[in-house]
Amino acid sequence: MAKNIVIVGAQWGDEGKGKIVDILTKNADVVVRFQGGNNAGHTVIVNEEKFVFHLMPSGILHKNKDCVIGDGVVVDPVVLINEIEVLEEKGIFNGKNLHISKKAHLIMPYHRRLDVSRERLKGKEKIGTTGRGIGPAYEDKAARIGIRCGDLLDETLFREKLKRNLTEKNHYIQNVLHQVGFEIHEIYHSYMAMAEKIAPFIKDTSELIYTAMNEKKKILFEGAQGTLLDIDHGTYPYVTSSNTTAGAAPVGSGIGPSRIDKAIGITKAYTTRVGEGPFPTELGGKEAERLREHGGEYGATTGRPRRVGWFDALAIRYAARINGLDGLVITKLDVLDNLKKLKVCIGYKYKGKKTTTFPTDAQQLDKYTPVYEVHEGWLEDTTKIKKFEKLPKKAQKYIRRLEELSGVPAIMISVGAARDDLILIKNPFTR
Ligand code: IMP
Repeated sequence: MAKNIVIVGAQWGDEGKGKIVDILTKNADVVVRFQGGNNAGHTVIVNEEKFVFHLMPSGILHKNKDCVIGDGVVVDPVVLINEIEVLEEKGIFNGKNLHISKKAHLIMPYHRRLDVSRERLKGKEKIGTTGRGIGPAYEDKAARIGIRCGDLLDETLFREKLKRNLTEKNHYIQNVLHQVGFEIHEIYHSYMAMAEKIAPFIKDTSELIYTAMNEKKKILFEGAQGTLLDIDHGTYPYVTSSNTTAGAAPVGSGIGPSRIDKAIGITKAYTTRVGEGPFPTELGGKEAERLREHGGEYGATTGRPRRVGWFDALAIRYAARINGLDGLVITKLDVLDNLKKLKVCIGYKYKGKKTTTFPTDAQQLDKYTPVYEVHEGWLEDTTKIKKFEKLPKKAQKYIRRLEELSGVPAIMISVGAARDDLILIKNPFTR
């Protein structure tokens, strides 16, 4: 039985982590986000009501669970306050269970501007970012000029840091981008007003998690984005600006790596990607349209249509290695219900040479063509099925093959958007 579990996306994000985190939160005492920011978008459906969070840990829908925005997250206070207000309106927010790390960096208005303007300048070479200022905020963190949530608690320090940053940022914005710069007073006043609202939640969250662990509480570490968007291990440069893999959980929440018991990877039964970058199993034309419509494959954050394609076993095997996955959650199986034939990528080919190892080089990956095996579709509705053995035989065979190819056992299969559209094989918190 595991106490501390990390959940990560095994593909390019949008694997349906929000729902799985929401389900596992029932067994957890604390839910921690450890990287990324409001580039994420978790959709959770509870009692037919749809919630989309970008920054809040998905566990916030459970009143008695502690939710932590950890050290490695970048926080846009505007978004945070919006999400708090939505929860307040629904009577879900009690003001006690949200904890924000003092060390988490703030996303500032100039970060958003830089993100969008840079993408525009890049033209065809663009990454396809979410435009939320994530990259520029992490850049400032690495450049050691970032402003952190804890700085909001000291007006003088905040103003000083802001002033130093604006001198440099305005120089770039005015002289390189030829745009109007930012006024210190405007940012200062708006951030101080927001600080008043969120100050009670800003604290040493590493200590909070440490204490909870010593009290034998169960902790769920909720990853955002996916393995292939990891800044080191993803399809660089078409990645996000944080480490999205399981190794980031201890660093981004301020605990020792030996405290994590299990890593669970979430994968769709097929593949999607938003933004630019290589995607060997991508589909085009009518086939793509059908899968996109059927799976509702539009970005939760930007509304962009997602690129869609077949399951890529090389990518999942790679994710299993990089994250040390103990279990796989396969989502959206039901989206494949009406397909006569399904394909699974089992290798890549380039100039007559075949490989079964996922290449880490984006340029190289772009050159490969996939080698597929074809599976027969089950052509039955799976949405109400609760037991693996009740799945159509062909669907069982498909899942067994994905397990075999990835080398990781499936512990849950999601067969619909609602919380209970789920086949639970093994709950890592209880077994
Ligand atoms: P950024 O994180 O906004 O800088 O975007 C970098 C890349 O990561 C782009 O391709 C985005 O589409 C992608 N990305 C960022 N967050 C998510 C996510 O939560 N799901 C899927 N893709 C994401």
